[in-house]
Amino acid sequence: MCQAQGKSLVSLMRGEPDFPTPEHIVEASIRALRNGRTSYPDNRGEKNFREAVARKLERNNRLRFDPTNEVLATTGATMGVYAALMAMINEGDEVLTPDPVYDAYHSPIRLAGGRVRTVASEIRNGRFVITEEALERAWSPAVKAMILNTPWNPVGMVMTRAELETITSFCERRNLFLISDEVYEAITYGGAVHVSPLEVAPRLRDRCVMVNSLSKTYSMTGWRVGYCAGSVPLIEAMFLVLAQSSRGPATFVQDAAAEALEGPQDCVASMLEEYSRRRARVLEALDGAAPVIAPEGGFFTMVDCRQWKIPSNEIRQRLLHEHGVVVVHGSAYGAGGEGTLRVSFASGGENLSRGLARLREGLGNILEPAR
Ligand SMILES: Cc1ncc(COP(=O)(O)O)c(C=O)c1O
Repeated sequence: MCQAQGKSLVSLMRGEPDFPTPEHIVEASIRALRNGRTSYPDNRGEKNFREAVARKLERNNRLRFDPTNEVLATTGATMGVYAALMAMINEGDEVLTPDPVYDAYHSPIRLAGGRVRTVASEIRNGRFVITEEALERAWSPAVKAMILNTPWNPVGMVMTRAELETITSFCERRNLFLISDEVYEAITYGGAVHVSPLEVAPRLRDRCVMVNSLSKTYSMTGWRVGYCAGSVPLIEAMFLVLAQSSRGPATFVQDAAAEALEGPQDCVASMLEEYSRRRARVLEALDGAAPVIAPEGGFFTMVDCRQWKIPSNEIRQRLLHEHGVVVVHGSAYGAGGEGTLRVSFASGGENLSRGLARLREGLGNILEPAR
């Protein structure tokens, strides 16, 4: 029970943008509905959407994929990751995931018959990094694939070209498939620029599936629409999985998604400006309370409480019960997150102000005696 007398909880936990979906995208779906775009979609994804995806990939990511057989529409990135794993993994195969990592990767790996092997990261110069040594330490002959996420949830790093070179070279050397989840690509700060692993390593084209969605970039989480791109054999195998499971997002949703990718992009820029302001508020509010790992991308900040040697789950519980603020303990994302807390600024406004005030006060009370 919350002991923060009479206070309702403030959540700095959720990974969901609080913006409404931009009006022109909503309008496109209404138009599509009125035009009778309500029948079964093409199981690969509607042609107009796949073509819009291919043009977007060429324009923004400098990658060329054939919309006829190298692109699939998926029910969010979640379905893309699932289909890729089902296509790549056999019983007993192992899959590498960074640690800490978006926790929802682990269940589909197991569902596909695979086993998770984590790649330890370390915090160097205020950034989480994955080194070549860590990759090699994590490897075993049973490893078949790796899932990579840049910009990286929960830690907020945007992988540099050099980092991607290390990881993609490792995948090539060890003959691994790579699933590249790029859902936060549009949300980067300062000088950080999202680079797709395939841009750095075109030689990995036959073994890489890029997964993306419209959830974060266009604030379309509830629309359940995303896409994948990869080489023909991988996409064909994933197509079989999708055809026997979700059979794609609704037809009118794909029309709206095509409009999102091809229509005006100023909505993306203004959401990014607002995230940047929120990020600055988080850094300012926590200044002096505990070190923070300034995010280069996404909408999470990691508070680094490792020096106090208090389990992150204990800090989380005390923040919840004594101060009425909800954050996620870093260990929820793997052993590598221990000692850190994930603070979301996906919600702004009054919620963020109140949450940050409580967090600052709570960290003071919890960490101060241990200083
Ligand atoms: C790294 C990452 N990948 C995928 C997803 C899910 O994306 P979608 O809503 O498109 O299924 C999330 C959502 O939080 C995420 O953080």
